[in-house]
Amino acid sequence: MSEESWAVAVDVQEATAPSIQVDFSKKVDRPRGPRDIRGDTNGNSKPEKTEDAIVDMAEQSLLNKLIRKSLVRNRNQVEVLQQDPTSPLYSVKTFEELRLKPELLKGVYNLGFNRPSRIQENALPMMLAQPTQNLIAQAQSGTGKTAAFSLAMLSHVNPGNKWTQCLCVSPTYELALQIGQVIEQMGEFCPDVKLAYGIRGNRPERGVKLQEQIVIGTPGTVLDWCTKYKLIDPKKITMFVLDEADVMIATQGHRDQSLRIHRQLTKDCQMLLFSATFEDSVWRFAEQVVPDPNIIRLKREEETLDTIKQFYVICREKEDKFTSLCNLYGCLTVAQAMIFCHTRKMAAWLVSNLIAEGHQVSLLSGQLTVEQRAAVIERFRKGQEKVLVTTNVCSRGIDVEQVSLVVNFDLPVDMAGNADNETYLHRIGRTGRFGRRGFAVNMVDSKHSMDIINQIEMHFNRSITKLDTSNLEEMEKLMS
Ligand SMILES: Nc1ncnc2c1ncn2[C@@H]1O[C@H](COP(=O)(O)OP(=O)(O)OP(=O)(O)O)[C@@H](O)[C@H]1O
Ligand SMILES: [Mg+2]
Repeated sequence: MSEESWAVAVDVQEATAPSIQVDFSKKVDRPRGPRDIRGDTNGNSKPEKTEDAIVDMAEQSLLNKLIRKSLVRNRNQVEVLQQDPTSPLYSVKTFEELRLKPELLKGVYNLGFNRPSRIQENALPMMLAQPTQNLIAQAQSGTGKTAAFSLAMLSHVNPGNKWTQCLCVSPTYELALQIGQVIEQMGEFCPDVKLAYGIRGNRPERGVKLQEQIVIGTPGTVLDWCTKYKLIDPKKITMFVLDEADVMIATQGHRDQSLRIHRQLTKDCQMLLFSATFEDSVWRFAEQVVPDPNIIRLKREEETLDTIKQFYVICREKEDKFTSLCNLYGCLTVAQAMIFCHTRKMAAWLVSNLIAEGHQVSLLSGQLTVEQRAAVIERFRKGQEKVLVTTNVCSRGIDVEQVSLVVNFDLPVDMAGNADNETYLHRIGRTGRFGRRGFAVNMVDSKHSMDIINQIEMHFNRSITKLDTSNLEEMEKLMS
């Protein structure tokens, strides 16, 4: 994978690592990520997105938040493009430098934040600057975007003014609640700043203006509150935040409603837009919503196959695959394993067979609610189960560091039946950060699946070694 010349990797511990100012050409590359379901790194588009896939984006985003324990570290350098290239580029290493109100600073520390995250170093001074500046920020999930604008909103409002000043829209009810929680926690010591949730089921009295300085909600309800119910005067909004823009525009209705809210605002209103991914469609939307933006981007750390030993096993049918899996498991001292199946049915079959063999197994299935999925992942993380069986849809974007064996019980294929290289990399690749050695074993049960292995080998220019799981001695030698 080629890094672009200006993307210089620096160590995250290096407190003085400067940000770089770059000239983003309007043609941005397409970062790949768990939420980037519509195309691969090379811009090849996948088949049309389905309703399922759309729901999945919002659910995946929520799942990420439920299972995340802390900031996602990223050693890449932040790329900054300022609207006015002559103005100095401010970056803060401490929250004190932002000169926040003491009660807000207390709230930040109370959340356990010691220092600004990578993107916050640049985003916070920009969002707090006077005169105000607009911002488009893209960084992978978990890098501190929501915390950043929550802080900006709390700092921006005038608690003495009893009307809505900051408006934030988010794609779903659950995601809006998540953001609200962050604002409430961070604003714990700012008792005069109030927050209202513009979400379904909440219906304040029609025509009576809200007194809450901050409103966070979904586009449909927020639009109603601005236009139909006149609870908010859009002309008095001085900060507009659009979070999770990539998830937002996956639903046409949300996209249009966001634009309709946006059209009611004054041109002096500060516009902020955040996204975890940044394909062309997000970029086009961002340009519509955020005039004259500063742009901040933090690229994902690339996953690599460097530290992974890859194998394939020739099998006849699923029973044969199961036997191979058991042989494999018997031979390895596996810390934890993740096994990928193509369908829920196959995953369920495999789980019952593994349990019958005495393994502690859990199943991550699309039938579970997001909360249940988060609980399954959490148990697996804690090592309560050693094997996690999952379908691909459920497992996108899950980083489980201690997994030393990944088994593709079914190989990843796209809708056309070709190798899905991107998914393959997601399943077994590691970032340099974790860098632990691991094994990937692919079950091959037909000529077609052998073709897929060949395609994957060619794509990554890495050979995948044949493994005979009935030959214990050879297996031990190869996998040592
Ligand atoms: N400066 C910080 N120091 C320590 N932890 C932080 C800091 N900023 C954010 N966090 C924590 O990191 C996690 C991710 O932050 P946040 O939700 O803001 O990320 P995000 O970029 O909005 O992610 P997503 O794209 O999934 O919405 C949260 O648990 C948050 O509390
Ligand atoms: Mg967020």
